[in-house]
Amino acid sequence: MIVAVETRPLTSARIPLFGTLERQPADALLGLIGLCRRDPRPDKIDLGVGVYRNDAGETPVLRAIKDAEHRLADTQATKAYLGAEGDARFVELLAPIVFGAAQAAEPCLTGVQTPGGTGALRLGAELVARGSRQPTVWIGTPTWPNHAPIFREAGLEVRAHPFFDAVTGTVDFSAMVGALEQATAGDVVLLHGCCHNPTGAELTQAQWADLIALLTKRQLTPFIDLAYQGLGRGLDSDAAATRALLAAMPEAIVAYSCDKNFGLYRDRVGALWVKAADGAAIAAVRDNLLVLARSLWSMPPDHGAAAVREILEDAALTGLWKTELEDMRARIAGLRAALAHAEPRLSALGDQGGMFAMLPLTHEAVLELRTDHGIYMADSGRINIAGLRSETVAPFVAAIAPHLQR
Ligand code: LMR
Repeated sequence: MIVAVETRPLTSARIPLFGTLERQPADALLGLIGLCRRDPRPDKIDLGVGVYRNDAGETPVLRAIKDAEHRLADTQATKAYLGAEGDARFVELLAPIVFGAAQAAEPCLTGVQTPGGTGALRLGAELVARGSRQPTVWIGTPTWPNHAPIFREAGLEVRAHPFFDAVTGTVDFSAMVGALEQATAGDVVLLHGCCHNPTGAELTQAQWADLIALLTKRQLTPFIDLAYQGLGRGLDSDAAATRALLAAMPEAIVAYSCDKNFGLYRDRVGALWVKAADGAAIAAVRDNLLVLARSLWSMPPDHGAAAVREILEDAALTGLWKTELEDMRARIAGLRAALAHAEPRLSALGDQGGMFAMLPLTHEAVLELRTDHGIYMADSGRINIAGLRSETVAPFVAAIAPHLQR
């Protein structure tokens, strides 16, 4: 049946749909990629966006990934749809690496594949927003600049709490705890599982235990961003805080990225796991994750996750990946030690973990280093340590030394 639509004469001028949109600043971190690329100086140093580089300054595809991709090319029989959950076998094989074998089998834990860690964060944020509690999400400062926008775009309120003591280069734990004591029961606390981005500062084991006690007492839910497993202290050590949080808390959310530890950046490979209080709740969580994923991206891109699955299904390829990951980790740790040794005011970098450190530099100094020396770092003074080469450590330290604030 065709329904007749009554057409009314237009009485006023057309109101444009996009007329109220305002111009937005370009993403400063991603903007550095183009800025550095356009700099013709051969001795420029790119310490901007968080991409691992080897000592030749390159980001080659991992050999384990190349082998897996060859296998996929030879054996993949179809590219037909998989569904909103993505590659279930990829999630199943990744879970023990993240949680350990016992916790991965926990019946109240469910996981789905996502487009990178950002997709996992956004899916988790949408799930939190779907619940009836509308909690505030507490985020330590400084943090990855995309964290707050992801939660805000999902309609959640975000509040900042202190995290970093710039003078000591360590976690300002008492300030962090003091702020979280103000949180309301049911609120969500975003935590970096390891390799804090941008500071590299990490909670000690004792501080994690105290934080878990605080979350438990105040009924707060951890939302863990685990984007650098294996690049800090090692695969198991980097997951230790996540595992402890999951073991202790009745509910938890884990956003995971394979972009760095499998070198799959542009292929966007990640996963989201949620732990719920009981079997009925976890079934509803999974239903909601699938409904949300369907409307957000229908299903995640397959290729990168399929390559990870190929690796994790094969002991030899898994061994090769672990060796390559350990090489990356050791190179970053070596650069940290070299920086700490070269300049006493950078000594804290030797105790921190992961790819990033935040240098005590003013914004003016960051811009001056860019203009005068071709040294590219985030406006905040964050450096991607893996952008350094053994031969650029000395000129880098010489260039920044006059600008260091402490
Ligand atoms: C970074 O912090 O540099 C990376 O996580 C890349 C990104 O997406 O911002």
